[in-house]
Amino acid sequence: MRALTTYGTATLPALLVLGFFVWFANWIPQTRWDPPKTREIATTMTPAELAVVGQAIVRERGCLSCHTIEPGQGIKGQGRGPNLAGVAERRANGVAGGPDTLIGYLTQALYTPGAYLVEGFSNIMPASLKAPAKLNRAEVAAVVAYLESLGGTPSVTLASLPAPSDASAAPAAASPETVPTDPAAMLEAFDCLGCHSMEPGEVLVGPPFVAAQLRAAADAQGMAVDRYVMQSIVDPRAIQRTEFPADTMPDDYGERLTATQLFTLTEYLTTREGGQ
Ligand code: HEC
Ligand code: HEC
Repeated sequence: MRALTTYGTATLPALLVLGFFVWFANWIPQTRWDPPKTREIATTMTPAELAVVGQAIVRERGCLSCHTIEPGQGIKGQGRGPNLAGVAERRANGVAGGPDTLIGYLTQALYTPGAYLVEGFSNIMPASLKAPAKLNRAEVAAVVAYLESLGGTPSVTLASLPAPSDASAAPAAASPETVPTDPAAMLEAFDCLGCHSMEPGEVLVGPPFVAAQLRAAADAQGMAVDRYVMQSIVDPRAIQRTEFPADTMPDDYGERLTATQLFTLTEYLTTREGGQ
């Protein structure tokens, strides 16, 4: 309260109005995430620390436009999605026909929401890697830790978070041999090199991959470079660079790449300085 009184009473209405707009903006899904706030998540964080970050992410990335978190209300709740209170308890052993651990189930619920449809709800939840939530892998770990805390005790860490393919336990998932995990092999396999050169200054169709230039492009958007690169790959229409042809880059890499591939590629592209 002291902070308020030192501004004098004239400022109070402005603060209230500002507070209202902050609150209001948080209720409109379209304005909530542009660009999403990046939270610092250290690899050394304990599950309990991750859960604290995860709670903030759930609030900031639109989850509560569909989900409620109301203890004692059962799964149905008041929202378009399940009431998440008690989710750790009811999914302690996963779900029949799906992942049989809580962490496996929660990870699947975030990456491929349609893989197991909670009874009584429709398939409207967007995959969390994509807009509007656009979680990265560390953020998924934080959200999973928070969800574990809703009726249980957080235990997930960044290192133990299952890859999406393990999590979805889909028998039809591509076998490890057919999924390239080496970044150079991925750039080949996904035809990136048909349009992007690895040589500084060489423009094929899109810009060459040079980490310093990616950082400059990210800076120009006020984005962290890894987020910029990930967005450029999964949602290439989000930002149009006028020097390059519009609507040329395929916009289905979000479906074709696994999250692990996306993170591996991103790390490679953002750290490789070019010219070998
Ligand atoms: C557009 C609405 C919508 C948004 C946004 C949304 N969800 Fe969902 N979610 C649903 C619906 C509907 C279901 C149930 C159907 C299904 O299983 O896909 C669900 C299911 C879930 C489940 C499984 C719950 C259970 O009891 O088994 C979890 C966990 C979950 N969502 C977490 C999240 C998180 C975390 C976010 C934010 C990153 C989020 N959801 C964003 C609608 C949404
Ligand atoms: C058919 C051509 C084409 C293919 C294939 C393609 N891209 Fe692109 N890419 C482009 C174009 C054109 C742009 C610039 C588009 C714009 O800004 O609107 C671009 C932009 C990018 C950017 C932003 C670069 C910057 O400096 O701003 C990244 C990162 C990127 N692509 C990564 C990839 C990756 C990774 C792949 C393969 C998985 C890929 N692209 C495949 C044409 C392509």
